[in-house]
Amino acid sequence: ANVEPQECLSVALKLVKQAGDLVRDAIKKKKNIEMKSSAVDLVTETDKAVEKLLITGLSSAFPDHKFIGEESVAGGEKCVLTDEPTWIIDPVDGTMNFVHSFPYTCISVALWVNKDAEVGIVYNPILEHMFTALKGQGAYLNDEKISASGETDLSKALVFSEMGTSHDPEKVDTVITNITTLLTKVHGIRAMGSCTLNMCHVALGGVDACFEFGIHSWDTAAAYLVVKEAGGVIIDTEGGPFDLMRRRVLCASTQELAEKIAKLLKQYQPERDDAH
Ligand code: IPD
Repeated sequence: ANVEPQECLSVALKLVKQAGDLVRDAIKKKKNIEMKSSAVDLVTETDKAVEKLLITGLSSAFPDHKFIGEESVAGGEKCVLTDEPTWIIDPVDGTMNFVHSFPYTCISVALWVNKDAEVGIVYNPILEHMFTALKGQGAYLNDEKISASGETDLSKALVFSEMGTSHDPEKVDTVITNITTLLTKVHGIRAMGSCTLNMCHVALGGVDACFEFGIHSWDTAAAYLVVKEAGGVIIDTEGGPFDLMRRRVLCASTQELAEKIAKLLKQYQPERDDAH
């Protein structure tokens, strides 16, 4: 299989910019909304159009590569990561924000090979923020190198969490409990509505940590590399190694800060992405 990372990045970048034109155009218009796992887990025709554009373009450039796409999985395709080069795609992360025309939304495209991230692209086409990373070559925002804040002190940390898209009572309790626990220990808490962008903002140094239960592999696959290449840390919410399919993420500027937060969190385990 062809996995020249630089070439993969440039082919994917072109497609992501085209996809960005679609999103930028559609965010101003009336959206056709459908519900998925809950009344707040949404998909629009733009999510589907963007995923189609990206998979069509990438599979014609790289015919033997595999795909995991949010809307393809919603349509019944398997979500299994092998050692084969695999593009992991979230066509619109922050779909709720997109639906409300709130400009914190992005396209996320990653290439994983041998179960490790090689290429990561996260694009907010409304604010024109293009985050990119190649393994071993640093992370960039619009071609400028970025790095995580280096913060280690919990009381000085700005932490992003999320409400998520599940109304399962145990999940809701986990969200509220964790916000209650952290509120008086950290500098500030925010919930902006895109796990992918939250992670990229940790990479940028504007946010010191973020965590969420119930996300999917496509929400974290690209931002994972952006954060790592910016010197940040990604672990499981309980501590220990991050598992892409486990649907939990804790990301921070430093290992020390990540571990302090992990110790405080009430844990929740949703069904794995690769359970079926
Ligand atoms: C969602 C966003 C949101 C998070 C949800 C995700 P989507 O992704 O990342 O911040 O709270 O858990 O599902 O569905 O808009 O791609």
